[in-house]
Amino acid sequence: MKYSNHLLLLFILCFNYISSAQQNKIIQLPLPQKEIGKPLMMVLNSRQSTRSFANTPIPKQELANLLWAAFGINRSDEGKRTAPSAKNWQDIDIYVFIPEGVYTYNAKDNRLELVSTFDLRSMAGVQDFVKSAPLNLVYVSDQSKMGKTSTEDKMIYSGADAGFIAQNVYLYCASQGFGVVVRAMIDKKALSEKLHLKPEQKIILSQTIGYIK
Ligand SMILES: Cc1cc2nc3c(=O)[nH]c(=O)nc-3n(C[C@H](O)[C@H](O)[C@H](O)COP(=O)(O)O)c2cc1C
Repeated sequence: MKYSNHLLLLFILCFNYISSAQQNKIIQLPLPQKEIGKPLMMVLNSRQSTRSFANTPIPKQELANLLWAAFGINRSDEGKRTAPSAKNWQDIDIYVFIPEGVYTYNAKDNRLELVSTFDLRSMAGVQDFVKSAPLNLVYVSDQSKMGKTSTEDKMIYSGADAGFIAQNVYLYCASQGFGVVVRAMIDKKALSEKLHLKPEQKIILSQTIGYIK
């Protein structure tokens, strides 16, 4: 093989390596399907918590729909979202725990951005079903967005903002037949350290989602 062919081969191998590494850093989501779902009153009638999950993966389209329902952008001209937030601070970041790693949901670009390549589902909560369910969402409030608000009010706003998102997820799951439970029982200190969260980033709630076993 000629020297120039060797160089070409090396270039192709490097290019493939770099682009596959970049692919893992970002997971582009399909556009959310906004025309699906059961009527609201039927959805409310079946909203409930489940604590028994099959480990079947959740399809990417369902994940995209679920995250949009949770806290996607529904008014792109203003950047406003499917859940309200105090003073439109939009303080909640959704950390997405899947077997492939941990990602944050970037609503504007409709994509997941890598935080950790490790499967950290076992750290998303202290209950047994958490580590084997295909999806856990952890709601982290970035209180640096809340300006000079008192510490007490910050915690109230963070709790309320995460609560609205969690209810959106409950409703999407009820509509699509997924099991789901919202959870406060998390080892917050350990998880904050693992995710390298800043002191102003507070873990508020989490939610486990999957097909019902
Ligand atoms: C703020 C909050 C925290 C909760 N934390 C947990 C939890 O850590 N683990 C859990 O299994 N369920 C948790 N739940 C779920 C409740 O136990 C559940 O909503 C309640 O039993 C009523 O059941 P339902 O959701 O089916 O109506 C929590 C609910 C809320 C609102």
